[in-house]
Amino acid sequence: MPIETDLFAKARNHERLEQLTAAREHDLLPYFRVVEAEPGPVALMEGRERITLGSNNYLGLTGDERVKRAAADALEAYGTGLTGSRFMNGTTPLHLELERELADWMGSEDALVFTAGYLANVGAIATLLGPEDTVICDSGDHASILDAVSMSRARIRPFRHNRLDKLEKMLTRAADDGGGVLVVVDGVFSMEGDLAPLPEIAALCRTHGARLMVDEAHGVGVLGERGTGACELLGVAGDVDLRMGTFSKSLASCGGFIAGSAEVIDFLRVQSRAFMFTASAVPAAVGAALGALRVIRSGEGRELMDRLLENAAYLHAGLAARGFDVVEAATLPDGSSFVTPIVPVVIGDDWRAVLFWKGLWEAGVYANVALYPAVPPGGALLRTSVMATHRREHLDRALEIFERTRDELPDAVPPVGSAAD
Ligand SMILES: Cc1ncc(COP(=O)(O)O)c(C=O)c1O
Repeated sequence: MPIETDLFAKARNHERLEQLTAAREHDLLPYFRVVEAEPGPVALMEGRERITLGSNNYLGLTGDERVKRAAADALEAYGTGLTGSRFMNGTTPLHLELERELADWMGSEDALVFTAGYLANVGAIATLLGPEDTVICDSGDHASILDAVSMSRARIRPFRHNRLDKLEKMLTRAADDGGGVLVVVDGVFSMEGDLAPLPEIAALCRTHGARLMVDEAHGVGVLGERGTGACELLGVAGDVDLRMGTFSKSLASCGGFIAGSAEVIDFLRVQSRAFMFTASAVPAAVGAALGALRVIRSGEGRELMDRLLENAAYLHAGLAARGFDVVEAATLPDGSSFVTPIVPVVIGDDWRAVLFWKGLWEAGVYANVALYPAVPPGGALLRTSVMATHRREHLDRALEIFERTRDELPDAVPPVGSAAD
C-alpha cells in the first residue's frame, strides 16, 4: 500500500504561511534584509544607509583593520578552507593559539574551539548528558541549548525564567532521578537582555551537587572587568563548571568555544560529535577571532567595552524617557543598576511590531523584531542593541525616529491580510 501522507504538505500548510505571504505581499517582512557593506553603526542595507540597532557586533570589531589583517593573514597562510574536521586535518596552529589564549582569558584549564557557537552548545551538552542524566534549564535559554538538550535524551526539568524558587524545586526533584545533573542558563538572555542571577544559581547548584554551565554568547567581550562575561561581572567565574562563548558577536567572526576543566575539555575533544563530525571553521574566521580577542585583551578592549555600556545606558534612558516600555535595568549585587547592550522595546502585538519595524526601516533605522515563538505570545519585541562605535548623534537620531514612528502609527493596527485590508 502506498504512503498516503505527503511529507512536504507541511511546507504548503504551516501555521506561519498566511502571515509570511501577507508580509511579503506588503513588503513588511523584517527578515532576510540584505546588508550591502560592512555592518558598522550605520550600514548600507538595500540601497540606503541605516543606523544599525540590530547587530551583535558589539565592539564594532568586524571593521577593525587589525582584525581584518588577522583574517587576511590566516587566509593567505592556510587557504580558503580546511576541508576536514578538527579531529582529522582541520586543526592549524591558529586553532591551538586561540584555544590557549581563550583558556588564559577565561581563567580555565582548557578551551575547545568549535565551528559555530550553536555547535559548541550542542557539542558540550549532548556529549556530557545521556538518557540516565537530568538537565535543568531556564525557559528563556537559547534555542541551541534546548536543541542540545533534546539531542542528549536526558530527562528535562525546565524552570520558569529566572525563578530561583522553581530552580530549587527542580534541583530537589532531580536528586531522585538517579543520574548526574547539569543546570544550563544564558548569562545574558539573548532577547530580553537581562542577566541570570548567577550567584544564587551557583550557590543552589553547589548545595544540591549539580554542575553548572553558563552560555556567555552575549557576555564575552562585553561584561566584567576583563570582558569574560556575566560570570565575571557577577563574581562567580570560579564557581561555574563550564562557560560557552561565541565568536559571532563581540569577537567579530564566526565559531564558538567551551572553557572548563582540562578533564572535561579533553573528553569533549574525543567524544563530541558536533566537534568531530563537522568541518573546521575557515582559517579566516579563526584568524579574525584571534585578532579580535587580542584587541579585547589589550587596554583598548576596556575602552571599547566602556563605550558600549555607556551607549547601552544612553539608549535605554532615552527610550524610557520617551515613554517606551523597555525591559528594566538589572541590579548588580552592589546595588548599582546595569544595562546590557541588548535594549528591547516591548510592543506586544505581532503586527504592530512589524509595522513599527517598517516605519523605522523607512526612516533609516534597522532594528530586530522578535515574535512568538522567540518570545512569549503577545510579547513581540523590537530588539535593539548598541555598538561601541555608535556615536551620540547616531543614537539621538535613532531616538527621534523611534518617537516619530510611534506617534505616526495608528492606535489600532488591523492584521494585514484581514478583511480591513
Ligand atoms: C545565547 C546564545 N547562545 C548561542 C548562540 C549561537 O551562537 P552562534 O550564532 O555563534 O552559532 C547564540 C547566537 O545566536 C546566542 O544568542
